[in-house]
Amino acid sequence: MELNEKVAIVTGAGQGIGRAITLKLAANGANIVVVDVNLERANETVSHLESSERKAIALKADISSTKETEDMIEESVKKMGGIHILVNNAGITRDKLLLRMKEDDWDAVLDVNLKGVFNCTKAVIRHMSKQRYGRIVNIASIVGEMGNAGQANYAASKAGVIGFTKTVAREFAARNITCNAVAPGFIETAMTDSLPENAREELTKQIPMGRLGKPDDVAESVLFLVSDSSSYITGQVVNVNGGMYM
Ligand SMILES: NC(=O)c1ccc[n+]([C@@H]2O[C@H](COP(=O)([O-])OP(=O)(O)OC[C@H]3O[C@@H](n4cnc5c(N)ncnc54)[C@H](O)[C@@H]3O)[C@@H](O)[C@H]2O)c1
Repeated sequence: MELNEKVAIVTGAGQGIGRAITLKLAANGANIVVVDVNLERANETVSHLESSERKAIALKADISSTKETEDMIEESVKKMGGIHILVNNAGITRDKLLLRMKEDDWDAVLDVNLKGVFNCTKAVIRHMSKQRYGRIVNIASIVGEMGNAGQANYAASKAGVIGFTKTVAREFAARNITCNAVAPGFIETAMTDSLPENAREELTKQIPMGRLGKPDDVAESVLFLVSDSSSYITGQVVNVNGGMYM
């Protein structure tokens, strides 16, 4: 129970990777604020934790809204008594080749994936600074490192998350706040479910380990980065991609 007494906020935790992270952190002793724009899904994640001894609450917030995010963080602190860990996981895709990509496709993805990370981080960092302790993990993507046809908006947002991560790491290291990114490869979730079978086969051929990843593969890395085992690691990008990008 190495995360005993710690409070973690996980965004986009209503399903997929965010839910896996939530269950992993709770299994290791953290109390959790499950944040999602879809409250029904967030409540479902909380219901998975009912049999555990951990405290878990669901809060609805659209992280692309600065006001909603600030209110959500304040409510978290009030209800849970503090905040020690933030996992910026919520993210969306709106894939199109560049020539067909509309301004709205660009704005929607950047607003959630990059501005959302800024909103959540800025709202928690004051609390973390004051208590001189914090662990922030941002979920980036392999696509932010190597690019991917049809994902100019998504790749730019995730590359932005990596730059943001390194900057926060530098600004707050002296306050004992670490900030790292996890860059998953292709993981089996709703986000990749829509891939046609032939595209999935082609993709798998490019992964040295010969399979897509599982949400739990990502959750294990997040657990390490929020635990005391990684207290001298900051500003890093941990690749969880089966060797697809080295
Ligand atoms: N699945 C993959 O292959 C993969 C690979 C690399 C990175 N990622 C990243 O991992 C993260 C999680 O991905 P996933 O596959 O679990 O996605 P998912 O679509 O299964 O789940 C995302 C969750 O985020 C929530 N969400 C969306 N917009 C939000 C908003 N504005 N405010 C709050 N919550 C919001 C959704 O309701 C959903 O519950 C994302 O940042 C994604 O970019 C995923």
